[in-house]
Amino acid sequence: MSALEPRPGVLRLAPYVQGRSAIEGVTNPIKLSSNESSQGPSPLAIEAYHRAAAQLNRYPPGSQWDLREAIGASHGLDPNRILCGNGSDELIQLMVRAYLGSEHQALLSENGFVMSNIHCTAQGAELVIAPEKNYTVDVDAMLERVTSKTRFCTIANPNNPAGTYISGEELRRLHAGLPENCLLLVDDAYAEYATAADYADGAELVDDFDNVVMTRTFSKIYGLPSLRIGWAYCPTGVFDLVQRIRTPFNTNGPGLAAAAAAVRDRDYMLSVREENARWRERITAHLTRPGIEVIPSQANFYLLRFDAAGGKSGTGAAEFLHSQGIIPRPTGGSDQFLRITIGVAHENEAVLDALDRYMDA
Ligand SMILES: Cc1ncc(COP(=O)(O)O)c(C=O)c1O
Repeated sequence: MSALEPRPGVLRLAPYVQGRSAIEGVTNPIKLSSNESSQGPSPLAIEAYHRAAAQLNRYPPGSQWDLREAIGASHGLDPNRILCGNGSDELIQLMVRAYLGSEHQALLSENGFVMSNIHCTAQGAELVIAPEKNYTVDVDAMLERVTSKTRFCTIANPNNPAGTYISGEELRRLHAGLPENCLLLVDDAYAEYATAADYADGAELVDDFDNVVMTRTFSKIYGLPSLRIGWAYCPTGVFDLVQRIRTPFNTNGPGLAAAAAAVRDRDYMLSVREENARWRERITAHLTRPGIEVIPSQANFYLLRFDAAGGKSGTGAAEFLHSQGIIPRPTGGSDQFLRITIGVAHENEAVLDALDRYMDA
């Protein structure tokens, strides 16, 4: 028997299960299980990636400065307070490590990003999970659960797997109700897809307060998940602290180069955003029918709830989609739900056609 003792919390975790990517016997399945961009990255990002191959024998620039400047210019943010990570996932982990101890509580919303729960649990902290209302972060339910031990709070906005959002005003109200010694991490992985007029990302709050951080990613609208580049916009104090625990080469050279080219190609990003919004509307209208509830999404995916009374289910729909060479993601806490990423036209048309046939069978 080993004398090694894991930190409290680690044994409470099960390894992360990635979205399915294959169907036996199907050569090119339509993969819509991980909220990836079927359009792929900007061609300029791919070119930058290839150019970076000439430097593979060198360590990447530890300062990440070129990318930080490009992000700052594109978003109108101070590059001195932008930090890049091995995916936004790593940045969430760094924030948790910097601020959350095993004696503290992490306040989370029911449908947050699962990795936030994992990082907080691994720290040994107690997880306090607020229920959602209409699949949406319920600010009142969160604030009711604040205690003197609450040191970390995060929401994904839009969230995942529902794709719903809270307004900029609600986000401010959440922040206003948190103790000053609690870090609020606004996980804005899907921010670029949000088109609602009252949506606001977390950047203004970061500028106004010293206990708010916004995380973003190149894995979604920029189509570069394989390169693992995320970024955080931080108050100076948080930036300084996290710089102390960040490993110097946490972001890879080709990833930094491709991400910088991607964020500079704003027109490409906007075209992806527009196409996604068009399909989101069309899919929602098409699938709104007796037996299916389409949860209103501001992201690049949609969550469906199948009505058990009609004899249909998310798992049943997933099985039927698999038989048609399509991979969705069963999720949402019960077998009534199914999450599907918005793909390119022929993928979306295949999904709508298959779901029509499943519902009519
Ligand atoms: C809400 C949310 N936040 C963060 C991430 C992490 O993205 P990455 O680590 O690829 O930047 C994801 C990935 O699916 C997500 O859904």
